[in-house]
Amino acid sequence: MGTGVVHGEPEPTALVDQQHCMFCHMHDAPFLAPSFQQIAERYRDMPNASRMLEQKLRLGGKAHWGDMAMPAAVERGGPLSAEDAHTLVQWVLSQ
Ligand code: HEC
Repeated sequence: MGTGVVHGEPEPTALVDQQHCMFCHMHDAPFLAPSFQQIAERYRDMPNASRMLEQKLRLGGKAHWGDMAMPAAVERGGPLSAEDAHTLVQWVLSQ
């Protein structure tokens, strides 16, 4: 924890499937939601971004990109632990 983002982290596929990330996000093009590359570009160098993003992945929340908020984890596929949220955010920010 707290170490820098390693570019090209391996995809945590089981989590991504369980949480249906790719239902709304794509890697390199905006779809229903901003692309993971756009998100990485915006937050990669922001010091406290990953904690905010982990929180948002678990609880969902308000719109930083448009009118649509991200649904909470429970609505996307099930509760998400802090550790799993951390794994997912590190992966997104490495794209
Ligand atoms: C039902 C559609 C949907 C699903 C499923 C979904 N997202 Fe999102 N996500 C969104 C929307 C919409 C936004 C933009 C919210 C905003 O404007 O802040 C977003 C924003 C984000 C952000 C940026 C948050 C911010 O505050 O800027 C991250 C990181 C993210 N999603 C990661 C994920 C990951 C990882 C998964 C799977 C675990 C996932 N999303 C699943 C719709 C979704």
